[in-house]
Amino acid sequence: MRLVVFISGRGSNLKALLKAQEDFEVVHVICNQATASGLAIAEEFDVDYTVIPWKDKTQAEITAHKLLLQLQPDLIVLAGFMRVLSAQFVSEFNHQIINIHPSLLPLYPGLDTHQRALDDKQKIYGATVHFVDHQLDGGQIISQCRLTIQSNDTAETLAQRLLSNEHQLLVKTVQHMANHTIYWHNDRLYYNDKPLIEPIIWNQ
Ligand code: GRF
Repeated sequence: MRLVVFISGRGSNLKALLKAQEDFEVVHVICNQATASGLAIAEEFDVDYTVIPWKDKTQAEITAHKLLLQLQPDLIVLAGFMRVLSAQFVSEFNHQIINIHPSLLPLYPGLDTHQRALDDKQKIYGATVHFVDHQLDGGQIISQCRLTIQSNDTAETLAQRLLSNEHQLLVKTVQHMANHTIYWHNDRLYYNDKPLIEPIIWNQ
C-alpha cells in the first residue's frame, strides 16, 4: 500500500510509520513548512518530499492535488498536518484520507486538546485515528487508544505520555488497512468483516 504523509512540524508520527514500513510504503511526504524538523526525518529515511506553502490555500491545494494524481497513493495520512483541507479537496479523495488527533473524538476537536481535557477534569484521555471529511476533526472514527489522566498531569506530561501511544495507534491502524482487515465496502467501514460501529480500542 502506497502512503503519502502530510506533516507540518516535528514528524514523530511520520517516523513511526517509516520505521514500521513492511505492508505499506511511505512514497512521499508533503509539508507546508520549509523549516519543519520532520523533513530531516524524510531525508534520513530517503523519502522524497515536497514543501507546499499554504499561504494561498486554493493554490496549495491545486499543487497538492496535482502531485497526488502523479503519486497515486492508496492512502493519505495527515500526521500533525496543521491546515484544514477544503471540502472539495477531501471529496476528491473520498475514504482515502486519515488523520491522527490527540483526543478521544468527538471530544475536543481542534487545538489545545490536552489542556481542555485537564480543564474539564477528565479522567480518561486518548487519541483517535479517523477518516477526514469536510468537518474539522470529523469523519468516521476508526480507532482510539486510551490512557488515565493522573492528578499531577500537565498539558505537557499528558501530551508526552500520549505520543508513544499515538505512534502505535497510527501504525497499527495503517497496518490493518494495508492488510484489508479495515476496509470500505458500499460506503460502509468494516473491521474483520463486520461493520465498524464503535471505535476499535487499541491500547499499548
Ligand atoms: C500529534 O500529537 C498528532 O496527534 C497531532 O499533532 C501532533 C503531531 O506530532 N495531530 P508529530 O509531528 O507527529 O510529532
